[in-house]
Amino acid sequence: MKFEKIQAPKGVREYLPPESQGFEWVREQLIAPAKEAGYQLMELPVFEDTNLFTRGVGESTDVVSKEMYTFEDRGGRSITLRPEGTAGVMRAVIEQNLDRGQLPVKVWYSGQFFRAERPQAGRYRQFYQVGIEAIGIEDPALDAEVIAIADRGFKNLGLKNYQLEITSLGDAQSRASHRVDLLAFISELNLDEETSNRAKINPLRLFDDKRPEMQAAMLKAPILLDYLSEESAANFAAVQRYLKAMRIDFTINPRMVRGLDYYTGTTFEFVHSDLGAQSGIGGGGRYDGLMETLGGQSLSGIGFGLGVDRALLAAIAESTLPSQEFSSDLFIIPLGELAKEEALVIAQGLRLSGVRTELAFGDRALKGAMKAADKSGARYVIVLGESELTARTVELKRMSDGVVTSIKIDQLQNELSRALSLSSNSQ
Ligand code: HAM
Repeated sequence: MKFEKIQAPKGVREYLPPESQGFEWVREQLIAPAKEAGYQLMELPVFEDTNLFTRGVGESTDVVSKEMYTFEDRGGRSITLRPEGTAGVMRAVIEQNLDRGQLPVKVWYSGQFFRAERPQAGRYRQFYQVGIEAIGIEDPALDAEVIAIADRGFKNLGLKNYQLEITSLGDAQSRASHRVDLLAFISELNLDEETSNRAKINPLRLFDDKRPEMQAAMLKAPILLDYLSEESAANFAAVQRYLKAMRIDFTINPRMVRGLDYYTGTTFEFVHSDLGAQSGIGGGGRYDGLMETLGGQSLSGIGFGLGVDRALLAAIAESTLPSQEFSSDLFIIPLGELAKEEALVIAQGLRLSGVRTELAFGDRALKGAMKAADKSGARYVIVLGESELTARTVELKRMSDGVVTSIKIDQLQNELSRALSLSSNSQ
């Protein structure tokens, strides 16, 4: 009987060797600046109580209303695969009382997120983010630091063709006075029922409506930045001053609407110009009410999520990915059972001392095994047969020029360490 092949689910991005090396590099570069700034890892579940997202992220958002992977578990509970990371971090902070300790709570995370979006280049149903959250302190210097950490991550990748856009959604008072005028403006528009329902939950969403007639209509809409309270305006000015001091370029985009409802105050997005429609490589902002909405005390927070898949596409587009194909230092070809056992032991010892070592498996004939060694890109090769075992001596072959040196097996580790550090010094 012949079984049919099974395919990966639609819209899922997976990374296989050798591409996975680039993916891993991008992920590590993006998050390194957060670690340097004292953020600590939080590993969270990929599924949560559905209420966490409906309440935390907001029902006016596409993410909650259309894109969640929600199912009932065996105990009849409604469970959702996390579409984003901030709500889960906040849930854990509240549940484990981290907000009763040293503030701000500063954490980073990395992993898969799930949104049932229409798949296209750069938009997947399972995608990867690295992110940080700094919870419990309101200070524009913290806003600027969070933005600077994200910017450093993209600079670590060598990216140049991106722009940082910032705006402020102000405090509750700013948003309330803007909302009155915005709702009055919107009531004059002839909206379909769905759009009008959306506007009732969050009128700012209409700025994000992609239909040309809506975009045209919203051009005349009142802008939140013009309604900032004195305090919010001073706060936003300070964030800009700090960014300038750190020489971080930005533009102000007063019409920016983030896809999640919890944002207040400073919000920002990084947009890459070589990625077509899915140009957002990262974004974030402050969220004043989230902790309270999720049953905690009233503390503000700020953070970002960076799209690892899109950052990788950007690094490929700008040709900044280093070539990272793995090649070992030594390839050992054992001939015969005794030699195989000895080769395993030698490899174990060499790897402990930092020599990257691979073995030939499968009892292939010498010719085939040599071909595999060559293909692996290893810098040195030894063949371990009966005569070598008896003499406790091997012929160490340097693959770059074929030069062969006789070496005692006991001396392999010393010789290789010396040869490898010598050649890497001379590079
Ligand atoms: P977000 O803007 O929804 O924010 O997502 C952050 C980044 O994740 C986006 O800029 C994009 O690069 C990537 N991304 C989002 N959806 C997809 C997708 N379907 N396929 C590929 N990449 C995608 C958040 O998630 C917030 N939690 C960020 C945050 C943290 N705000 C405050 N703290």
